[in-house]
Amino acid sequence: MKYQIALIPGDGIGPEIIDSACQVLNKVGATYGHEFIYTTVKAGGCAIDEFGVPLPDGALEQCLASDSVLLGAVGGPKWDTLPGHLRPERALLNIRKGMGLFANLRPARLMPMLKEASPLRRETAEKGFDLLIVRELTGGIYFGKSGRYQSEDGETAFDTETYSVKEIRRIGKVAFETARTRRGHVTSIDKANVMESSRLWRETMHELAKEYPDVQMKDMLVDNAAMQLVQNPSQFDVVVTSNIFGDILSDEASQLTGSIGLLPSASLGETKCGMYEPIHGSAPDIAGQDMANPIATVLSAAMMLRLSFGLTKEADAVEKAVDEVLNQGLRTRDIAWGGPSVSGSAMTKALVDRL
Ligand code: IPM
Ligand code: MG
Repeated sequence: MKYQIALIPGDGIGPEIIDSACQVLNKVGATYGHEFIYTTVKAGGCAIDEFGVPLPDGALEQCLASDSVLLGAVGGPKWDTLPGHLRPERALLNIRKGMGLFANLRPARLMPMLKEASPLRRETAEKGFDLLIVRELTGGIYFGKSGRYQSEDGETAFDTETYSVKEIRRIGKVAFETARTRRGHVTSIDKANVMESSRLWRETMHELAKEYPDVQMKDMLVDNAAMQLVQNPSQFDVVVTSNIFGDILSDEASQLTGSIGLLPSASLGETKCGMYEPIHGSAPDIAGQDMANPIATVLSAAMMLRLSFGLTKEADAVEKAVDEVLNQGLRTRDIAWGGPSVSGSAMTKALVDRL
């Protein structure tokens, strides 16, 4: 089979880790008889430098015309002082919105061989955890009304958290359906003790839960969830939450696995065409030094194989290669914790050799 993949390398370490993922995909293609055809799309800071805008004309169309999108990372200090609508991150937000990718799946699993790298207490790390954050991705405060005005205190700014029942049900369904394929448990996270949008979120999740009697659902306030993640992460199976809470909690969950450099993500909408990206950023401090951990992006490519292309055994093989290479003791700097480490390209080569 042939698959068209739009690549958005982006900024910082983005191009290096995308290159790693392509090497892995090419090996998968050669081994299992598939052809992956790549189109590179410029978006983010590099597009600002070249075209003056984060998402040039035609970029979104190129993504929509592909079978799937693989993104590295966008952003960096160089573009930090630009106004909101011209920042590199705008490219990402506009692609998510433009492609209708409302569901962001962020799995976080403590791999047994990396327990030592986790900042969790030893007893907690021993228990391990395997959770999936289902983050709403095209609504909430990221896309609500925002602006600035002069108040009696002087310059004032605002952003608005807005959610409709329709949006909440749509993401809730993804969480409940996915829970059925896992351990059958959903934790819905909100701030219903303070926010009206969270009270609607909670009511809607309770209504929806009635349609899934085989799935257990409970609510949790977001501040408590942040604490429970550190205290007792093994209690979580599927976690469903808003755009901003999901953004914050997924960074926290990732670090509990040992490194943010390990976690993939998938952004999905109504069609099979999704966008896959590591949850980490562009890490400008280590860009171009062959130090970045390619695993999060390689695992994102595996999610693409599984969820967009239905290539289960190929996805399994990539995930197995990652496990094996880590079991062998190979570590990039972010997971070496001061011990011996290898470069990003050495890690990539080890993965390709395993496949
Ligand atoms: C993420 C990132 C993005 C987000 C930024 C880069 C806009 O932090 O994917 O988690 O906030 O969604
Ligand atoms: Mg984030």
